[in-house]
This record gives sequence, C-alpha cells and structure tokens, in this order.
Amino acid sequence: MQKIRNIPFIDLSLGKKDQNEITNNIINLIDSSNFIGGEEVKKFQQNFSQFNDSNFCLGVANGTDAIEIALESLDLPKNSEVIVPNFTFLSPAEAVIRGGYKLVLADINLDDFTISIESIKKLVNKKTSAIIAVHLFGNPCNMTEIKKITDQFNLKLIEDCSQAHGARFRGKKVGNFGNLGTFSFYPTKNLGAFGDAGAIVTNSKRLFNIAQKIANHGRVDTYDHVLAGRNSRLDAFQASVLNQKIKTLKKNNELRVKQASYLLDSLDGSITKTIKLSSFQSSVFHQFPILSKDRDSLLKYLKKRGINCGIYYPNPLSKMMAFKENARFDNAKESNCYAASKRILSIPIGPHLNLKDSEYIANAIQSFST
Ligand SMILES: Cc1ncc(COP(=O)(O)O)c(C=O)c1O
Repeated sequence: MQKIRNIPFIDLSLGKKDQNEITNNIINLIDSSNFIGGEEVKKFQQNFSQFNDSNFCLGVANGTDAIEIALESLDLPKNSEVIVPNFTFLSPAEAVIRGGYKLVLADINLDDFTISIESIKKLVNKKTSAIIAVHLFGNPCNMTEIKKITDQFNLKLIEDCSQAHGARFRGKKVGNFGNLGTFSFYPTKNLGAFGDAGAIVTNSKRLFNIAQKIANHGRVDTYDHVLAGRNSRLDAFQASVLNQKIKTLKKNNELRVKQASYLLDSLDGSITKTIKLSSFQSSVFHQFPILSKDRDSLLKYLKKRGINCGIYYPNPLSKMMAFKENARFDNAKESNCYAASKRILSIPIGPHLNLKDSEYIANAIQSFST
C-alpha cells in the first residue's frame, strides 16, 4: 500500500520572509501609534484597486459588512426583492434581510455551483430591485447572462467576490461587472488577513463616496457627520498584513490553477463529478468541490488516507432557521442546491500543497470509485 501522506485542508502558516516583514510592519505601526486609518490602509486600497483593475477600493471591517454597506449604498426601494443564490455562505442573505428587503433564493448550476440563470429568470418580477451574484469557490458566474437580465429589468447588481480574488469572466476581473463588488479577507480566503477584514470595489465615484461615508459614521470631517452611518473600517494592522500578502496572491492563485488542472484531468471520466467550466470562466479555485453519491463514505475513506476534506455547504439557505420563514425560493426540494448539499465534498487545494499531493488525492479518489 502507498505510504500515507498527511494533507491538511487548510494551512495558514507563513514563510519566514513574510513573517518577518509582517512583524516589522506591525512593530512600526505600534511605534507610530497609527492604529486607525493612515498610510497602510491607503496603501492597501491602492494595491487592491490596482490588483482588481477597479477604479476605487474601500477597506471595511469584514466581507459581511462589505455586502451590507454595498446594498445600503444602492438605496433600493424598501421591501423590494433581492435575488441571492440559495447555496453559499449566508452573508448575502443576511445583508438582504438586515437591509429591510425581501429575500429571494435562486437555484445554482451543478457544473460550477454559481447562480442559475434559468432560476433567476423564473424569480425576477416587478418587485425585484437587485441581484447579488456570488462567485462561489472561485468560479465566476456567467456575467454575460446576468448583465442581460439586470439591463432588461433595470436591476442593480452586487458581486460577492469573497471567494474569488482575481477570478475573471471573459478576461475581466470579477467585481467590475456590477455596481459594486465585495470581498472578504477572512484568514482562509485566497487573500486572508490575520483576523477579520473586507473591501468594496466599484468603478463609480458616487457609490464609492456613499459607501465610504456609511462605513465611517457618515463622516466628512471631524465631527461633521452627514448621515447615520456605522463603524466598519479596515484597521491598520490588518491592512499592513494584507499589503504584504497581496504580493504573493497572483503566484498563489496560479498554484491553485495548476493543481486544479491536474485534478480536472485526472478525475475526468471518474464516477465522481468535478467542476465543469466554460472557456470564459477563469477560476481561482478557492475550493475544489467534487460531487459523490456516496459522499460520507468517501469523506471517511479519504480521511483514513490522511486527506482532510470539508463540506461546503451541508444545507441550502432555505433550510436554515434564519431564512426558512422569510424567503421566497425556487422549487427548493427538487433543486440543484439540495442535490449539491447532499453530495458535495471539497478536497484540499492551495499554496500549501504541490502536484504530488494532488496526484495522491486524485489516486485516492479513483481507488474509492473502482
Ligand atoms: C461567499 C462569501 N460571502 C461573504 C462572506 C463573509 O465574509 P466575512 O466572514 O469576512 O464576513 C464569506 C466568508 O466566509 C463568503 O465566503
């Protein structure tokens, strides 16, 4: 039998060079007592808008706030409907409810786990004011088709890019198709901080100005507050960590893409279903999900061989107590969301691994299937 390798699902440890740089930057911040705002935050906003080819970037406290603030900036009619995928981390749905809008949950595609265009078409109506598209697992949604719908029905569009830093659709970086794009820098993300952090990108100066005010107490000057905002600022420590880590984001995304291509080739023809992307979708493979009818046995089988997997997500949002009673959804029982939640398994991928690890993982999956 092949020697067991230990393959962690996630590894947040840093190389010595990054660790030293980050420690020095933090010491400098402590020396200067510069904790809120300041140069590191400004620098990160510049770095990230440049990375994302967006005109404006606003650092905020986390990815959930980013969506809430983006929604509030759009000033949608109260009680209007906002369409969100039924299979995602729950933040976009929370933002809709907390913003005072009606939550409408759309189905997903099983090829890439992003929002289904057919489902949006079924759900959209006169009350719809916006769509929040989530580029789940690093896979960009079909932005051509989504834009056709938002143009036809005059809807606003937010892209939740929390799992898709650097992903592209038809060569354009996600976050630039809609009115605003939102990012999380939760530690496990492709670009992760040392705590909570997030950002909003936009190409509209007007929306940037509104979001900036909302995120900083409606402030335009010291004790000059023009609206009732909130406190959701990116702090200087997290910004300094992100300024260092963004230097390796492109390279780390490329490592993910290499591992994913290997896995896609090796698992082609296996009974385990993998992601199927169109030539327009350049994913950054935040996760590599597979679908198996025997998911729970496969999970145990891989665990025994040292391969640590994760289940994202065990339930569609429509099954959660938080949304069960207050959402309209697309045929939930028969939906792809339900099928995915029963069969999905994310296998390890990321810069902490190499192609030998991917080979070991692919072989183990193949040996389970035969
Ligand atoms: C798709 C998606 N949206 C939003 C969020 C929320 O981000 P945060 O945890 O930074 O609030 C996450 C993070 O887990 C996410 O994966």
